Amino acid sequence: MGDNGLTLVTGAAGQLGAVGRTVTSLLLDRRLPVRALVRREDDRAAALRAAGAEVVVGNLLDPADVYRAVSGCRRIYFGMSVSASYLDASVTMAAVAREIGVDELVNMSQMTVSQMSIQNTTPSPQQRQHWLSEQALAWSGLPVVTIRPTVFLEGFFLPLTAPAVRDRGRIELPFGLGKTSPVSTADVARVVAAILADPRLHLGRIYELTGPRSQDMHEVAREYSDALNREVRYSDISPEDWERELKKVGLPEHLTQHLMTMAELNRAGRYDRMTDGVERVTGRPPLSVREFVSLHPKEFGGRQS
Ligand SMILES: NC(=O)c1ccc[n+]([C@@H]2O[C@H](COP(=O)([O-])OP(=O)(O)OC[C@H]3O[C@@H](n4cnc5c(N)ncnc54)[C@H](OP(=O)(O)O)[C@@H]3O)[C@@H](O)[C@H]2O)c1
Repeated sequence: MGDNGLTLVTGAAGQLGAVGRTVTSLLLDRRLPVRALVRREDDRAAALRAAGAEVVVGNLLDPADVYRAVSGCRRIYFGMSVSASYLDASVTMAAVAREIGVDELVNMSQMTVSQMSIQNTTPSPQQRQHWLSEQALAWSGLPVVTIRPTVFLEGFFLPLTAPAVRDRGRIELPFGLGKTSPVSTADVARVVAAILADPRLHLGRIYELTGPRSQDMHEVAREYSDALNREVRYSDISPEDWERELKKVGLPEHLTQHLMTMAELNRAGRYDRMTDGVERVTGRPPLSVREFVSLHPKEFGGRQS
């Protein structure tokens, strides 16, 4: 497949380290043409344009916007921020992609979906919507590749552990002694970009992605300590205290409920997962927690020499 045609990347503005934004850069590095969908015209849109992407402004909840964004594209990466309207957006994308006809749709999902069924769902509305989105995409008959990562280092561990590590040398989470194997969105984006660049071997497949090690939070704290060259300890706080903290920073109810479910599943050992998906697709092992923390000394409060 030499001539790929245009690839649409949704959620392309993202925060630093978000999947869509990194996928856009990786495809442009490979000299593949990218149309980047953003929600609004801002500095991030300008940066994407300066990097060489065609930028389209649109709302993933508006079918006419999605139609305009997909028209002329052969391949799609579909992902957007955790939101109460996720299912609405993914079904809209499926309807439009079917109408227009595409060669590949890479769908961002979550690893918890692997354990879900009609009889076995979770209290997280986001996880239920990912499960339903996967069902709808399967019914659509589209050529889909499904990405199911475990918890993100950039999207979870960086924002939710860095302040207490910086200020008190503690990771404060209600994860009990459950094991976890967080994955970097940089690795997730490398997997997505490789699949978009050459879909032949991937159509119809599901990729479960984790980091290189599944370990409890005391072991995770040791990786932080090694990276920062100072002691970082794990404090197992109560779910109620964590919920109060999340509410204090004003997170939307949908996201708070999702995070509380993640904590509950962690404590129950349901994040004790290991796959070789990143290495299988990209040929490189995934980033470890220690390597990730070493890359962000400022956010985690500096490294002692
Ligand atoms: N965080 C984790 O630990 C984790 C783990 C596994 C899977 N996931 C999945 O990964 C996905 C999130 O990926 P990410 O972190 O790369 O995304 P993200 O950075 O949170 O969001 C990507 C973009 O989606 C855009 N967006 C939101 N609503 C939109 C709409 N209605 N129309 C157009 N654009 C919209 C946002 O635009 P603005 O910036 O303009 O608001 C944002 O830039 C979710 O599906 C989540 O379930 C996350």
